[in-house]
Amino acid sequence: MTPNRSIRNILFVTSECYPLAKVGGLADVSSSLPRALATKGLNVVTLLPAYQGALTQLENTRALGAINGPLLMPDLSLIEGTVKQTGQRVWLLQAPGLYDRDGTPYADAYGHDWPDNWQRYAQLCRVACEIASGRVADWQPDLVHCNDWQTGLIPVLLKQASLAPPTLFTIHNLAYLGLFDGDIFSQLQLPPALWSFDALEFHGRFSYLKGGLGFADALTTVSPTYAKEIQTEDYGCGLDGLLRFRKKALTGILNGVDYETWNPETDPTIAFPYTSQSLTEKAKNKKHLQKKTGLAPKSNQPLIGLISRLVEQKGIDLIIDLMKAYADEPVQWVTLGNGNVDYERELKALAEAHPSAISFTPSYDEQLAHQIEAGADFFLMPSRYEPCGLNQMYSLRYGTVPIVTPTGGLADTIIHTTPGTLSKKQATGFVTKGADLPNLKQTFKHALNIYKDKAAWLKLRRTGMQQDFSWGKSAAAYLQLYEKIVNTG
Ligand code: ADP
Ligand code: GLC
Repeated sequence: MTPNRSIRNILFVTSECYPLAKVGGLADVSSSLPRALATKGLNVVTLLPAYQGALTQLENTRALGAINGPLLMPDLSLIEGTVKQTGQRVWLLQAPGLYDRDGTPYADAYGHDWPDNWQRYAQLCRVACEIASGRVADWQPDLVHCNDWQTGLIPVLLKQASLAPPTLFTIHNLAYLGLFDGDIFSQLQLPPALWSFDALEFHGRFSYLKGGLGFADALTTVSPTYAKEIQTEDYGCGLDGLLRFRKKALTGILNGVDYETWNPETDPTIAFPYTSQSLTEKAKNKKHLQKKTGLAPKSNQPLIGLISRLVEQKGIDLIIDLMKAYADEPVQWVTLGNGNVDYERELKALAEAHPSAISFTPSYDEQLAHQIEAGADFFLMPSRYEPCGLNQMYSLRYGTVPIVTPTGGLADTIIHTTPGTLSKKQATGFVTKGADLPNLKQTFKHALNIYKDKAAWLKLRRTGMQQDFSWGKSAAAYLQLYEKIVNTG
């Protein structure tokens, strides 16, 4: 019998990584999972583009030199360094004119996707393949871990190469298909046979995501429930057939939380640190947040928090309707987010109409996000689908009770409050029966009643704060899976 090959080197490829570039939870995962794997003895290199401002956040930098190869743009280079804030080892891909731009990783300052995203991420994928083939810095990974559509071409390209390491593709959000027109397929000079329904073609267009799903040796997604949901027509985004076909290769591994960044006891961005035994300090954070956001200093009114990309996925329309329904009730709302302009307009109008009860900050603000977690009583997350979701887990640690819908990672992390779950100290939040307004209203009413019951409310918050979603368990599951992939091919 051949002994199991032990695994040592991992190339983790991503389009976001906190604090270098962050749009959503992918950045948090790309920061904490590689570091958690490193503590398990793996040698992990995280590869991402050198977006504007990223390089200045590194220390111990070293130029790895120019990268040349077929179909690569001229003057590509890699810089190795350590992220000052987290200690993570990264390789940044520099390409003149490609990544160093104002805006987010994917869009300009007006929210329009960069028209050359296909090229920006194709270059990232091709460079990852050069590294995977051992042609860069005398280092070769035993496995390449890809994340979301931006890395979807890696498994496709490596399947064409000889002696390439195996790949794992993680789905953080199936709805982002990485769709481009057919002529992009020609421009990329991929083998013509790949332009087929069984490969990269998706209803007459070309999907990077489909490449990852079809060609990676193994697939994961970020919660067990989402792994099941995406195999159904309702959640499958047109790819459920492919995912059912690849069912045996697909696992759900729940994301973890970086408790060094999200810990109310040590969080440097909050005014009053606290633990489950000093919740009076949390009340001071509430007062501080009310003051900062211009809300009336009402200590006995429930304060509902929201931090989110303002997109349909997150059920923002349901939140707006709920806010309207409760506009004249003794409830306060503190909302932070940007995205869809219609949602922004509606939230702004509500905040202007009810300045002492509703606040809206239409931006991306790390510090305020932490302060909302610390100051709010409830965290509202009525997502239509949620692959994992991180904010509900951050909220638990901050004693901010989540109100969620029964989908994906929300269903896997929050236990609904009933007399039974409360008495057994299992209840951690409120889970609606569905992602619609009547169900949300019903659950919200129940949540406000529990808020008034001081003993129940204290028990609920303390149980939530004791939950442990640290990365250790999830990283061990990834490690086990890496070993399985490397040893079974
Ligand atoms: P998603 O990745 O779908 O956006 P997650 O819950 O996994 O959802 O992760 C969202 C992450 O982005 C969290 O860390 C959250 O605090 C952060 N975030 C989202 N919007 C904002 C914002 N406007 N300002 C600051 N942080 C935000
Ligand atoms: C995606 C999902 C979110 C998940 C995050 C990190 O953005 O929408 O649910 O937590 O990726 O995996």
